[in-house]
Amino acid sequence: MQAAAREYQVIVWGATGFTGRLACEHLARYGRSDLKWAIAGRSRARLEEAKQSVERLSGVSMKVRAGGDPDCCERIDAWRARIDARVGDIQPVPRLQHVPVVIADATDRASLAAMTQQTKVLLSLAGPYALVGTEVVAAAVGTGTHYCDM
Ligand SMILES: NC(=O)c1ccc[n+]([C@@H]2O[C@H](COP(=O)([O-])OP(=O)(O)OC[C@H]3O[C@@H](n4cnc5c(N)ncnc54)[C@H](OP(=O)(O)O)[C@@H]3O)[C@@H](O)[C@H]2O)c1
Repeated sequence: MQAAAREYQVIVWGATGFTGRLACEHLARYGRSDLKWAIAGRSRARLEEAKQSVERLSGVSMKVRAGGDPDCCERIDAWRARIDARVGDIQPVPRLQHVPVVIADATDRASLAAMTQQTKVLLSLAGPYALVGTEVVAAAVGTGTHYCDM
């Protein structure tokens, strides 16, 4: 399928995870309003919960919400503040309820192919990559989809 004919410009796969939620927050806050994007993962219920938590936690300091590595949290807070200062707070409370959900499990090749052929770019944040990262790369290659991970 021609990339231009695809339904989405970006799909965030692994949207229920730590980095997946951050990516969704970023796209919802700073992405163009006409960006066609979707979130993906293996559980519809967890994806719907992730949408709600991203809306609830957006704007809350990473130091408060994550309780993880303090240096990493401070860097994320500083990065977000720098972006806000440059572009203004386009969407202080990101709305994700309208964002479509795509179901794709790393253990189900057909679901990976079905996901990758719907989008121009796949942002792969499902992990660990050593366990779930190989088949999705093959699916992206097979469907001619741009692929990006961390
Ligand atoms: N966190 C970091 O700072 C960091 C830095 C560099 C690289 N990375 C790498 O980035 C990746 C994501 O990291 P993370 O910290 O965001 O991980 P995480 O919070 O543990 O999230 C893992 C994600 O992978 C999904 N997943 C697991 N098995 C799956 C399967 N069979 N099919 C589809 N989805 C599946 C999970 O979905 P469910 O909700 O359904 O379980 C969840 O969305 C990892 O490979 C990690 O090594 C992370």
